Amino acid sequence: MSEQQTGQSGAYQAHFRVWRGDPDGGGLTDFRVEVHEGEVVLDIVHRLQATQAPDLAVRWNCKAGKCGSCSAEINGRPRLLCMTRMSVFDRAETITVTPMRGFPVVRDLVTDVSFNYAKAREIPAFVPPEELAPGEYRMQQEDVSRSQEFRKCIECFLCQDTCHVVRDHEENKSAFAGPRFLMRIAELDMHPLDAASAAGLDRKRTAQDAHGLGYCNITKCCTEVCPEGIKITDNALIPLKERAADRKYDPLVWLGSKIRRRKE
Ligand code: SF4
Ligand code: SF4
Ligand code: FES
Repeated sequence: MSEQQTGQSGAYQAHFRVWRGDPDGGGLTDFRVEVHEGEVVLDIVHRLQATQAPDLAVRWNCKAGKCGSCSAEINGRPRLLCMTRMSVFDRAETITVTPMRGFPVVRDLVTDVSFNYAKAREIPAFVPPEELAPGEYRMQQEDVSRSQEFRKCIECFLCQDTCHVVRDHEENKSAFAGPRFLMRIAELDMHPLDAASAAGLDRKRTAQDAHGLGYCNITKCCTEVCPEGIKITDNALIPLKERAADRKYDPLVWLGSKIRRRKE
């Protein structure tokens, strides 16, 4: 092995394997590419564009882990290209970069994530309380803090990509919103000012019946890949499941629903 490959400082040559193709098919292409100290994988993809593959397609914007657009898979793990430091890999390791597997390829590393926008539109928005005017809303700090964690989401959709319910199961996509949007339902359901139930919308029931909460078997894979460190499973999905189960097995809720149904 050359000194360039094994030295601990300065530039070295890395072995990259990048998926290239389009919806009709494609494959992995090998590159030797220079790496400098402090660089991230997105820097290397940009160097490939500048030196060897000018038509290599990649989506990116902020290069700061905030826009959520550079999502891809590195050595099979869903990651942000701009937040993955080259220093986490062994210098002799082959680094394989592929598009997110859970979504259709547009070209090279770019995928069509419109599935997620469609799911976002299916989630009913916050319902404002009728008795309060804007500006009169008051919340406990702990309620603010609880939903603040979910608000850190940058919509990179890495959690959606990794979730096994849809990753290799296109047939589940119509019935399953995915962790990012089940988390959104959980956020709204625990919002103290959301007036959905007064307006006749049972968020827990729709999470189960319309958005596939029951498909989630709390493997926590979504949490593991979230670049914002949001505890999607522990803080959103499990509490939502618990509240949905409480609702189902609470005798008062059961009785209330029977009476309501008889009146209808
Ligand atoms: S915890 Fe649920 S939503 Fe998250 S990856 Fe596992 S099955 Fe999917
Ligand atoms: S919850 Fe995390 S992984 Fe999922 S879209 Fe938001 S930031 Fe990305
Ligand atoms: S380029 Fe914006 S998150 Fe990576």
